[in-house]
Amino acid sequence: MNPVSYLEAGVIYCDENLQRLAQFPAECVDLIYLDPPFFTNRTYEVIWGDEAEIRSFEDRWEGGIEVYVDWMRERMIELHRILKPNGSLYLHCDPTASHYLKVMVDGVFGSRKRFVNEITWKRSSAHSDVKQGSKHFGRVSDTLLFYSKGDDRTWNQLYTEYDPPTSTVTTAVSSQRQGVDTASTTFKAPAALRKATRSMSFLA
Ligand SMILES: C[S@@+](CC[C@H](N)C(=O)[O-])C[C@H]1O[C@@H](n2cnc3c(N)ncnc32)[C@H](O)[C@@H]1O
Repeated sequence: MNPVSYLEAGVIYCDENLQRLAQFPAECVDLIYLDPPFFTNRTYEVIWGDEAEIRSFEDRWEGGIEVYVDWMRERMIELHRILKPNGSLYLHCDPTASHYLKVMVDGVFGSRKRFVNEITWKRSSAHSDVKQGSKHFGRVSDTLLFYSKGDDRTWNQLYTEYDPPTSTVTTAVSSQRQGVDTASTTFKAPAALRKATRSMSFLA
């Protein structure tokens, strides 16, 4: 890979991203993932580095959602500028503001057709915000909005292992339409299938 003057590989830059992005030439980045403040109206503290320094950032927006979306738009314009024509962008947000951000990003990318997918990131050990007396369902997921700059995006298909076989289910399948008599077969059902079929009865 050729070294570039505007970016040192393996370095985390802890400064204002708008100024940093302005140093990038146009159309030089393959993929962007961003995890910005979410419009939660909270202050966050994180423990940073070996010295365990406490750093905080404000996710409070005087002026409300319009101010937040304008702040994000400024950065999105830069991100769109530096993205390659076949590049992709993943914006991590949550249901607090994802619907506002989606409209804004559609505008910056120039068309609603540039939106590809909405990915729901559900926490596997969900620390739900439901407690005694709550009058809402648990808020246990984040949202990732996936955009592509052009029609011909780079896409690397991901494959994962099948669920490991855990139990044996025997089922009888008959298909008279295909002129086949009742056939009996045994297979290992993956966990998701066992869960889905627990309350179902098969009619064949
Ligand atoms: C939701 S947190 C993401 C944290 C990080 N992804 C992680 O998992 O630790 C948002 C981050 O954006 C940073 N941030 C806020 N405004 C920024 C700005 N103008 N330029 C660069 N970073 C900023 C905050 O300091 C905070 O660390």
